[in-house]
Amino acid sequence: MSGQPMATVWRRLAAELAAAGLDSPQAEARLLVAHVMDLPLNRLAALEQLPDQAVAALDRLVARRRAGEPLQHLTGQAWFRTVQLAVGPGVFLPRPETEVMVGWALDRLRAQLADGAAPIVVELCAGSGAISAALAAEAPGCRQWAVERAASALVYLRRNLAASEVVVVAGDMADALPELDHQVDLVLANPPYVPTGRRPDLPATVRDFDPPEALYAGPDGLDASRVVAQTAGRLLRAGGQVASEHDDDQGRSVPALFVAAGFGAVADQVDLTGRSRFVTATWDGRPDTMGAGAGR
Ligand SMILES: C[S@@+](CC[C@H](N)C(=O)[O-])C[C@H]1O[C@@H](n2cnc3c(N)ncnc32)[C@H](O)[C@@H]1O
Repeated sequence: MSGQPMATVWRRLAAELAAAGLDSPQAEARLLVAHVMDLPLNRLAALEQLPDQAVAALDRLVARRRAGEPLQHLTGQAWFRTVQLAVGPGVFLPRPETEVMVGWALDRLRAQLADGAAPIVVELCAGSGAISAALAAEAPGCRQWAVERAASALVYLRRNLAASEVVVVAGDMADALPELDHQVDLVLANPPYVPTGRRPDLPATVRDFDPPEALYAGPDGLDASRVVAQTAGRLLRAGGQVASEHDDDQGRSVPALFVAAGFGAVADQVDLTGRSRFVTATWDGRPDTMGAGAGR
């Protein structure tokens, strides 16, 4: 079987990725070689030769990457905190910005678990299930549900949560899980939040490869966040909390939605880069609004 030296191929692939303007060409080249050879990254150092067939496969993948396809679509995998997820066309790729919101949730859940509780957690707009999978891995013992509407995302969601006890719910978050009304301890969401008219401003890798139903939320980008606020108000018990991600220029508009929906302790939170990134709020369980949906 003929082949080519690994170091030569890797350098050539990295140079081609660099020429396309990618930020981490050497790391991406390593990941693609590991993917094609079906090896963990820490075994690559021992690889001296690549079979011609593997080189041909790598050349095809690098061409797709140079055309803007996300690396995660090429490998079929994405990392989020401690979990590895199956991803591909039709599902939103999890972003590192969202990891901070999960950290906020973990702090609360671990405190409740330490008190002997088994908190009820609902994730709305679950996509690949990154948030729910990370919580299941890092705070075992919670009772979890994950709600998603898009059929293409549900394929990945079911796969990524198959080994966990998280219950997957197919449907619109607006009327999901009525059996949990006023019982939930924590609601989490990373809803779509891009204003429809901002489509031309998005990077091509986002605009062309993330599914539209995961990105756009009406003319002001707030349509889905409004539904999150209403649904969280329906699901949460008195004293239950919600965290919902938003764009960095929605640090006033999204918290205002939660105030209007009847939440207390509404606070805007920043991500690792210091940008406004998610709102947190507590449901006060006002008896005049619970159950009837009035004012929400
Ligand atoms: C930005 S993605 C977030 C996915 C995942 N939570 C993450 O952080 O990677 C938003 C997801 O919400 C789903 N979605 C949008 N509107 C919905 C609705 N009304 N009910 C349920 N899911 C919805 C989309 O299909 C998409 O998968």
